[in-house]
Amino acid sequence: MSTENVYNIEAIDLLAKRYEESSANEVLKWGIEQFGQDIVLACSFGPEDLVLLDMLMKLDPKSRVFYLDTDLHFQETYETRDRLMEKYQVQFIRVCSDLTLQEQSQKHGDKLWKSNPDLCCYLRKVKPLTHILSQHQAWITGIRRDQAPTRAHAKKIEWDSKFELIKLNPLADWSNDQVWSYITKHQIPYNPLHDQNYPSIGCRVCTNPVLPGDDPRSGRWGGMEKTECGLHK
Ligand code: ADX
Repeated sequence: MSTENVYNIEAIDLLAKRYEESSANEVLKWGIEQFGQDIVLACSFGPEDLVLLDMLMKLDPKSRVFYLDTDLHFQETYETRDRLMEKYQVQFIRVCSDLTLQEQSQKHGDKLWKSNPDLCCYLRKVKPLTHILSQHQAWITGIRRDQAPTRAHAKKIEWDSKFELIKLNPLADWSNDQVWSYITKHQIPYNPLHDQNYPSIGCRVCTNPVLPGDDPRSGRWGGMEKTECGLHK
C-alpha cells in the first residue's frame, strides 16, 4: 500500500479493523515495512515500552527509538535506559525541552510542576514531542486500553489528529499480566522501582508509590485532577 493511501482516514480505519486481531509483532512488522526509518518508538522505559523495544530490536535492530528527557526522571529510570542500551546496543534518541530546569524556573517560577503541572508537561514533554514527531510519518506507543478510560478506545493503528501522523498502539489489547509475563520470559531489564510499588512511572517530582490494589496510575500527579500529560489526548 502506498503512503498516500495510508494517510487517507478511511484507509486507516480499514487497517485498524484488519489489524485488530493481529499480534503486536505483526502490527510492528507492518509499521516497519510501511515506514522504515520514518517510524519511531516512544520509549518511557516503562513495562510496555520494554516489550515493544524487545520486539522491535528483534525485527529490525536499526529501528529508531526516542525518549523524552524531562531532566526530572528518577535515577533508576536513567539506569534502566543504560542497561537497555547495553543489552540491545540501541542508540536512544534523547529529546528534551529547549529550556533547562534553571531557565524554566527563571521564566515561569520555581517548581512549575506544582504551580502549573500542565504547562510543565507541555514545556518538557508535549512541545519536544511535537518537534520529533514532525520529522516522522508514524509513531509507536505503549498505551493499553485498560490503563485508563481516556485510552479505552485506542486502536492498534490510528490517525493521531493531535500530532498529525499515524499512531501504532500494538499492545492496545494486552493486559498488565501479559506485559510482565513477556518481560520475565525474555529477561528484559526493568526499572527496579516497579518492585517498590511504583507501577506507573513518570517524573520523580510527580510520581508517588501506590497502595497495593490501587489504580496503577493513581501515583501519577497524585492529589491533582490531572490524569494525562497531553501525549495521548
Ligand atoms: S503518560 O502520558 O501518562 O506519561 P504513560 O507513562 O502511561 O504516559 O506512557 C504511555 C506511553 O507514552 C508510553 O508507552 C510511551 O510510548 C509514551 N511515553 C510516555 N512518557 C514518555 C517519555 N518520557 N518518553 C517517550 N515516550 C513516552
